[in-house]
Amino acid sequence: MSKVETVKKESLDIVNDLPIDKQIEQLVRAHKELNITRTRDENIKIVQGADLEGTKLLPESSRKRLEDGGVDLSKGYPEVPDRSKIPIFVDEAHAIRDYDVPFVDRGANADPEKKALFGAAKEVINLTDKVGTEIVGLQLEDLSDQQKNELALLIAERVVVFFRDQKLSPKAQLDLGHYYGNVEIHPQVPHVTGLPGETVIWNDYVIKRGLDLNFSNSNFANWDSVRYLGYGNQGWHTDLVHERQPAGYTHLHLDSIPGVGGDTIWSSGYAAYDKLSDEFKKFLDGKKAVYISAHAYLDRNDPLGGPKRVERVHPLVRTHPATGWKFLFVNRGMTRRILGVSPIESDLILNYLFDVYEKNADIQARFKWTNTKPGYGTSAIWDNRISQHRNVWDHEGKSPRHGTRVTSLAEIPYFDPESKSQRETLGLPLKKWDA
Ligand SMILES: [Fe+2]
Repeated sequence: MSKVETVKKESLDIVNDLPIDKQIEQLVRAHKELNITRTRDENIKIVQGADLEGTKLLPESSRKRLEDGGVDLSKGYPEVPDRSKIPIFVDEAHAIRDYDVPFVDRGANADPEKKALFGAAKEVINLTDKVGTEIVGLQLEDLSDQQKNELALLIAERVVVFFRDQKLSPKAQLDLGHYYGNVEIHPQVPHVTGLPGETVIWNDYVIKRGLDLNFSNSNFANWDSVRYLGYGNQGWHTDLVHERQPAGYTHLHLDSIPGVGGDTIWSSGYAAYDKLSDEFKKFLDGKKAVYISAHAYLDRNDPLGGPKRVERVHPLVRTHPATGWKFLFVNRGMTRRILGVSPIESDLILNYLFDVYEKNADIQARFKWTNTKPGYGTSAIWDNRISQHRNVWDHEGKSPRHGTRVTSLAEIPYFDPESKSQRETLGLPLKKWDA
């Protein structure tokens, strides 16, 4: 082993007065044809900076919302960070936000009855028994702090909460995200011009830029987005699990919506945990797993060795700081392995846990987004800690779908051995299997 390392070290030493990693960095940054990072499709060619061609593609309703909200589209839209600033090596990507940020869950001290929020709403509609609630008759932009806190608790309990007919500027969406936590700024995905942290969700644009998304490869039920690069998207996943403080309250606002199709489905991590037997829960409680980034980078010490992902270790079962309930924190693409068991055992266990999340229709809710007036949109705010989601790309891009997403990062994940599951806390029945 030491011999191999010596050889490797010698080969990576100074050549032409520059270490090999610096030479590779210069090469990659200098050639726009070279992809800086490996994502789902290597043929995607995103323009650096703001994109003037993108502005031309903007659907009318989205354009009105952005212009009403004071976004200067003349510079181009959307905007990606400058090529010179995107990390090339995995150690650089790992260093992003690799420090503690104080986090207080806004739902933790909210009124459990949510009187300020529910009292002001015209209607409160539960989509399913366990997941999804729609609030009717309130504008997100007008909520008081008390109502925002109660909304956080409602999201933490119900997984996802919806608001239709919203007049919401990108700036107001970003402000709400800041209220709920440290807003994630992605090093390379497109954002609203001038507003880093206001991520653009716009498949039609990415397809124009080379994403191979079509009827044949989208929506594979159990598609592992990391293992099968280049096979469309829209599989079950959780956003940003590789962060030191992974995603919490996450807000997608769609301002252009297909008349039919383009739904989103959420699945509950509280309920996925409660689907397991007591003995299996006991086995999983306290275990840790490795979580990886969706984007890949190069290893500075082995730059030709292929893509490397940011890795972080988190508890497999977590406790929610606002509800106090335990939940299962896994997703097929980005939970790599459980620590303390063999790789074969880990695969077996994880595949079962992914199935529990993905295949139980009674712990899921499917939401149909609706169009209203030009410049208006529909919002979904969900808790990425306690859920997986997927978009259903059945409209095949026939009509535009565009929106903006703001992700508030939450606490450093923890497991409290004293915490209880959702059903235990609510006194709901759980089967005792034969001992
Ligand atoms: Fe997502």
